[in-house]
Amino acid sequence: MGFLDKHKVIEKNATLLMVLSLGVVTIGGAVEIAPLFWLQNTIEDVEGMRPYSPLELTGRDIYVREGCYVCHSQMIRPLRDEVERYGHYSLAAESMYDHPAQWGSKRTGPDLARVGGRYSDKWHLDHLTDPQSVVPVSIMPKYGFLTNKMIEPTYIEDLLKTHRFVGVPYTDDMIINAKADFIAQADPDSDYDDFLVRYPKAQVRNFDNKAGVSEMDALIAYLQMLGTLVDFSTFTPDASR
Ligand code: HEC
Repeated sequence: MGFLDKHKVIEKNATLLMVLSLGVVTIGGAVEIAPLFWLQNTIEDVEGMRPYSPLELTGRDIYVREGCYVCHSQMIRPLRDEVERYGHYSLAAESMYDHPAQWGSKRTGPDLARVGGRYSDKWHLDHLTDPQSVVPVSIMPKYGFLTNKMIEPTYIEDLLKTHRFVGVPYTDDMIINAKADFIAQADPDSDYDDFLVRYPKAQVRNFDNKAGVSEMDALIAYLQMLGTLVDFSTFTPDASR
């Protein structure tokens, strides 16, 4: 009873209880927050991560505009069932160029963090145009109108500059070539060697198989790169942090 007796003194004195609680919470908070001021970086550098290509970034904006994040997350948690279904759990570095992040908070549909390469462009085109034509029980809305909305890279340089302003390492070279890169990625007959040097692993195709660059091209280009940049056969978590 000795210990509990002493505790009684604190519990019976509201002011003392408050002062001591505050003390405990302050110490706890300081221990958690203080180290962050001395860490150089809280995001582990991961090989393969690069900023989005102009076309992918445009597709990402369409994803945000259409509210895909309302039904889809992009964050695979380190839990066995998630890793078995979706693949390697998401790394902080994989969303470091996302402004704003697309982690999402609800999964009416599946997580999309590693959907890149899982289906063909044709599958995405059919699915986005009429989800029920490929998944009969799907409750996903139709987005076929994206195929008819052609896009010009009028503001693409400004878009890249804006992302550079918030910390994405777009180089001057990337910004100067933004328009050309935007067009080159959707045209397999273009001269895209320099584009691939700027954006390694970017996929160059006519994504919607129709002439010109449509919003559908941009969205599929974005979906097809999700989760494809980091090579998990060579990735080992940095245990020193
Ligand atoms: C109302 C909720 C809802 C919205 C909004 C929505 N989806 Fe879906 N999505 C679903 C559901 C449910 C499924 C699972 C059934 C299916 O495959 O259609 C799905 C499946 C998918 C899949 C297949 C994933 C896989 O691993 O099989 C992709 C890709 C996808 N959605 C992309 C999108 C994109 C891009 C948008 C925005 C343009 C979007 N979705 C908007 C509900 C939604």
